[in-house]
Amino acid sequence: MTGDKFGKRAIRVIRTRGTISLVLMVVFAGNCFLTLTADGATDETKTANRLVVHADQGEEMISRNIYGHFSEDLGRCISGGFWVGEDSPIPNTRGIRNDMVEALRGIKIPVLRWPGGCFADEYHWKDGIGPRDMRPSMINTHWGGVIENNHFGTHEFLDLCEQLGCEPYISANVGSGTVQELQQWAEYTTFDGESPMASLRRANGREKPWKIKYWGVGNENWGCGGNMTPEFYVDLYKRYQTYIRDFSGNKTYKIACGANKADYNWTEVLMQEAAWRMSGLSVHCYIWKGGDWPPEGLATEFDEAGWFAFLKGALFMDELLTKHSAIMDKYDPDKRIGLIVDEWGTWHEVEPGTNPGFLYQQNTLRDALVAGVCLNILNRHCDRVKMANIAQTVNVLQAMILTKDEKMVLTPTYHVFDMYKAHHDATLLPVELQSGDYKFGDDRIPALSVSASRDKQGRIHISLCNLDPRAGAKVVCELRGLEPKKVSGQVLTAAEMNAHNTFENPEQLKPASFDDAHLHNSTLTVTLPAKSVVVLKVH
Ligand code: AHR
Repeated sequence: MTGDKFGKRAIRVIRTRGTISLVLMVVFAGNCFLTLTADGATDETKTANRLVVHADQGEEMISRNIYGHFSEDLGRCISGGFWVGEDSPIPNTRGIRNDMVEALRGIKIPVLRWPGGCFADEYHWKDGIGPRDMRPSMINTHWGGVIENNHFGTHEFLDLCEQLGCEPYISANVGSGTVQELQQWAEYTTFDGESPMASLRRANGREKPWKIKYWGVGNENWGCGGNMTPEFYVDLYKRYQTYIRDFSGNKTYKIACGANKADYNWTEVLMQEAAWRMSGLSVHCYIWKGGDWPPEGLATEFDEAGWFAFLKGALFMDELLTKHSAIMDKYDPDKRIGLIVDEWGTWHEVEPGTNPGFLYQQNTLRDALVAGVCLNILNRHCDRVKMANIAQTVNVLQAMILTKDEKMVLTPTYHVFDMYKAHHDATLLPVELQSGDYKFGDDRIPALSVSASRDKQGRIHISLCNLDPRAGAKVVCELRGLEPKKVSGQVLTAAEMNAHNTFENPEQLKPASFDDAHLHNSTLTVTLPAKSVVVLKVH
């Protein structure tokens, strides 16, 4: 490929951390500009990228639930995260932190999964209802062996969802719970008439039932949820799901426990044996460095090898969804059953000095790029993927929010969810991307990732990620079938790969307005900075 189309000599000013350096841009016959900065460092702007957005097409809707979240009774996600208790000096509503609710409403959180994770298959919901001082404690065996006081239970979770304006997704106990427990949980929460469980709910202060659509039947039952084979689990699935009744007009959506990442046999067995009994089938996809669990390396300390490994890991999501979807297509060609990616995200070593069982990690520009790439992939698979839940909302893994006492920080990942909310319930537009490569050592991956949608007002949003941490990228985009008048955008980027927000400097990384996109008739020319996430609005 050649870069001649953009080959013009130019002087540019690049602003790096407040200092200004003059840059001479030189035309090369190859596929990039090489620019020499005053301090002798090199910066490339690749020119080989072509994008076609079929702006007049599109059939599938990107469910807003793809932008869902997961929160577990783990570390400081619930206790010390969402839940501070009614007597806390931190402003709260019935014990739930107000600033956090406001922040998550800001990204239009659509659905929240709880209580786990591994915790779900040890959780007995009746321990978490009634007067808080009477609730029994339990040992959180998976997560640090700490005592869980059950102060945040069913009522508190559903109150949280109401405050957030999101749908609850309850993940029920199959590993160590009984069918009766699950049956009664559904009755307690959703039955409107006179019944033992509905009366108990009323005695605990809630007159009207809640509407709870999403019910997960077990979590990781191939591992922490009971170490089962798919053949054993699928029989349990059929039995347990039978007793999640549709009470009082509540229409349930039952989600079977799915595969550990690329365990395609699990999906095969579940689909073959139980497709007719499920609304959704889950899959989990964590991205970490190193072979097996536990992950290697801190969130904030890495070199380019660490950057590359995570971006390559994020791209694997596409293969994963394609292969699981292909199996589902065999048994469910009409795509009635949703593929539910109910845990995904980056997993790093815990921050030094924190409880290893609490999985507390920082969050950098690298995590933001992983989020952007994964969300583009999830969008593009929206014909089959009906929900995804990033792990975990607050203070755990790839969190949106970190807290320290009364302080709260929004992470770079939060900002990606904020920028991408334009895709919620929008129509996915087909795209064709011809991307240059990002090469590292002997390896290479596509430098760019994209997805596009049309919202209900007819506006087009294009989310683009430049995975290359060293080179900017020029993209020529044909908006086929559209003659737009205006383009505007936002960008998330930084000088350093490991840029992040801290309690001392909470706004180091936040979206800025993006003005390097230019329209000429139906052609949009965009220059993406190195290591950036950009969302464009065209109308
Ligand atoms: O998110 C942390 C843990 O990762 C969850 O509890 C479990 O489901 C997964 O293995």
